[in-house]
Amino acid sequence: MKKKYTVDKNQKLNTNTPILDALKSAYESPSYQFHIPGHTKGSGVLKEFKNLIGTKALKIDTTDEFDNLGTLTPPTGAIKEAEELAAQVFGAERTFFLLNGSTIGNMALAMGITRKGQKVILNRNCHRSILSGLIISGAEPVWLIPEKLDEWGLWGSINPNTIEKLLNETDNVGAVWITNPTYEGVVSDIKTISDICKKYNVPLIVDEAHGCLWNFNSALPTPALKLGADAVVHSLHKTGGSMSQSSMLHIAKNSMLDINKIEKSLKLLHTTSPSLILLASLDAARANLSSEKGQNQIEKTVKNAKYLRKRIDKMEHIHQLKMDFGFKTDITKVFVKVDGLSGKRLESILEIDFNIEVESASDIGALMLVNIGNKRSEIKYLADCLEKITKTDYSNLFHLENKKHMPMLTPKLKYNLREAFYMDKEIVKKENAICRISAEVIAECPPGIAILLPGEEITTEHLPYLTDYEEIEVIK
Ligand SMILES: Cc1ncc(COP(=O)(O)O)c(C=O)c1O
Repeated sequence: MKKKYTVDKNQKLNTNTPILDALKSAYESPSYQFHIPGHTKGSGVLKEFKNLIGTKALKIDTTDEFDNLGTLTPPTGAIKEAEELAAQVFGAERTFFLLNGSTIGNMALAMGITRKGQKVILNRNCHRSILSGLIISGAEPVWLIPEKLDEWGLWGSINPNTIEKLLNETDNVGAVWITNPTYEGVVSDIKTISDICKKYNVPLIVDEAHGCLWNFNSALPTPALKLGADAVVHSLHKTGGSMSQSSMLHIAKNSMLDINKIEKSLKLLHTTSPSLILLASLDAARANLSSEKGQNQIEKTVKNAKYLRKRIDKMEHIHQLKMDFGFKTDITKVFVKVDGLSGKRLESILEIDFNIEVESASDIGALMLVNIGNKRSEIKYLADCLEKITKTDYSNLFHLENKKHMPMLTPKLKYNLREAFYMDKEIVKKENAICRISAEVIAECPPGIAILLPGEEITTEHLPYLTDYEEIEVIK
């Protein structure tokens, strides 16, 4: 059968692992250590912790500068080499390895490419890290409202015409910044959006935090770097197989962006003691995805997702978000809703009765990720459990939560994000917060989409999303 790899066929895939190799050689030839980290190869940690994590993990827990491991800021040695290999396979001009996740990538982009007084055309369901970046830079969002999938309680895809309209109406736009895919896997038409941005000479940033596998298999959507985006963030740790917190920021070839400014912003934000374990895991994830074995894993993942979706299609009383609805989706992200059960209830039944932990759940449905690490037997078990649930009468435990999860409101901003963030504040009881102006970002993680923004007027419409909060910080 024809392989579905999308990495350039003429490009020799490089599975070298410079950071991993350097770390292995430091492990094999240990030095007398009179530097950080102070636990000194694990000698100074609690025994129970050492037993849990393993002595080897502690022996390789080190930071850059030492033992010829290179440096992250600026990239030198093995770290520089590994970033270059990542740039090669993702087709970027420059790739930065990120600790503190795609969060720091979004913040560095906002700081590096936007400034006070500028506008950023930004989808309402963006991740809170972009807001953090704009609070620092002082640029203001112009809200781009995607399609609303009301019966799913989710945001849908972005209509490129809406972007063109906003670009037409707005002066001094520093960037168009969109999330693709959404957390639940809805995909927008990036090619058309990118062509529009080019026509208006405005850079396009794509938060592709959940889409790093796309580069490696054509059954998945086309990655934004291949469709004309100027910069992209990838949470390799979410779906690509690296360790938690490790991500990549790619700047496109022929990008309109000033790489130096982005690098300077990253320097302001990044730790000065990067974990070599996390960096090596990024190096290893890129090498794995580039390898024959890794590509077979992705192919299997796609097949597993197709299998799960086929099984769900055959069940009664369960519905899945899929591309028949007029937009593309990433098939590995399976959002389902079950008749008569809220998503939260479904999540707790899966957890308590079947020992299954899903990615997230809302008042409407639950999101399950089919990962490169999942075996077919696990997918079958999940499908069997879903089938059992759909055949069980749960009406006796039918308490619907009164909490809503995905804010679908268009924010009424009274002050700019940065202005509001630095104004004098006070804490008031939630009941007294109506008609006041929020001073903070309130966002539930996942998915990290803001319910309230600094500077936004609080209305009764916000209340169903704020059931977990007794007090709100407002502007004095
Ligand atoms: C769309 C999106 N962008 C960025 C982030 C931040 O990513 P990270 O957790 O890697 O910092 C997330 C996290 O959930 C996200 O959903």
